[in-house]
Amino acid sequence: MSTPETNTENTAQTITDTTTINAAASGSFTIGGDLTVNRLGFGSMQLTGPGVWGDPKDPDVAVRVLRRAVELGVDFIDTADSYGPVVAEQLIKKALHPYPEGLVIATKAGLTRQGPDQWTPVGRPAYLRQQVELSLRNLGLERIDLLQLHRIDPEVPLEDQVGELKKLQDEGKIRHIGLSEVSIEQLQAAQQIAEIVTVQNLYNVANRQSEALLDHATEHGIGFIPWFPLATGELAKPGGPLAAIAEKSGATPSQLALAWLLKRSPAMLPIPGTSSVAHLEDNIAATSVQLSDADFEAIAQAA
Ligand SMILES: NC(=O)c1ccc[n+]([C@@H]2O[C@H](COP(=O)([O-])OP(=O)(O)OC[C@H]3O[C@@H](n4cnc5c(N)ncnc54)[C@H](OP(=O)(O)O)[C@@H]3O)[C@@H](O)[C@H]2O)c1
Repeated sequence: MSTPETNTENTAQTITDTTTINAAASGSFTIGGDLTVNRLGFGSMQLTGPGVWGDPKDPDVAVRVLRRAVELGVDFIDTADSYGPVVAEQLIKKALHPYPEGLVIATKAGLTRQGPDQWTPVGRPAYLRQQVELSLRNLGLERIDLLQLHRIDPEVPLEDQVGELKKLQDEGKIRHIGLSEVSIEQLQAAQQIAEIVTVQNLYNVANRQSEALLDHATEHGIGFIPWFPLATGELAKPGGPLAAIAEKSGATPSQLALAWLLKRSPAMLPIPGTSSVAHLEDNIAATSVQLSDADFEAIAQAA
């Protein structure tokens, strides 16, 4: 394992060299045949208040995190109408609009919010359309590059949910359609209605319940976006399951968890979330960690 830009003493503080640390080192993936992004992206859910509700404690720091991510080569940012709600999308616009060429913002619709940590799916077509219109406004876009159905609403026919997204695509408001938290069967059913270019499911080295979907996506050239890539920070913690192996290797636990994901599949597009510039820099430096097959196995065992 080698991490040229890191040391074990104080990694997050010491990584600042943008000439050597860049998300481009994670390799690229082309979403839907025409959107090429660096595989290591950024998830914006941690930029909101507690329970993904309301404003962050310090919105200026959130803006700095987003700008630093792009400076470090991140060109794939995951968000959702429901993060805040509205807060994450508006912060992205504040920090990055007018957007640099090639920046892909993937948002979502289909989950409503009743308070902190409360999420309820609503997939009625009129609601999905409203949320896409609001995301266009909140992000300051004329077309959303990747719109993911956040959850399939079990009370609404799938044809109505994916069908409405297809209509929005035909109208030019959405470029590509993705799904979130689905089975292979649900993906295949949705593919009868529209082209699906990405899936986003819970996946990290310690929780591989979506392994079959990952393999299926990899085989069919569909992007796989693992949410909770750091198990909400459990895998990044000092003293966590990867701490001992990290100490031996000179990488941080978070870098090992992310390097493991990047090695696991060429279709893997991790979107680690953080509210801190230091953690962001730590995470992007994962792209310079080279794992051998033995390292890959050891990390899986430890996790
Ligand atoms: N599709 C879905 O249903 C769904 C569900 C959940 C999330 N998501 C998406 O997935 C993204 C990633 O998930 P997530 O942000 O919830 O979880 P995550 O990336 O697994 O972990 C984020 C947590 O790890 C901590 N962390 C990050 N980097 C660290 C580092 N280098 N060292 C120590 N701690 C670190 C963060 O705390 P600090 O802020 O202190 O760094 C935060 O608490 C979200 O931002 C969102 O875009 C999608």
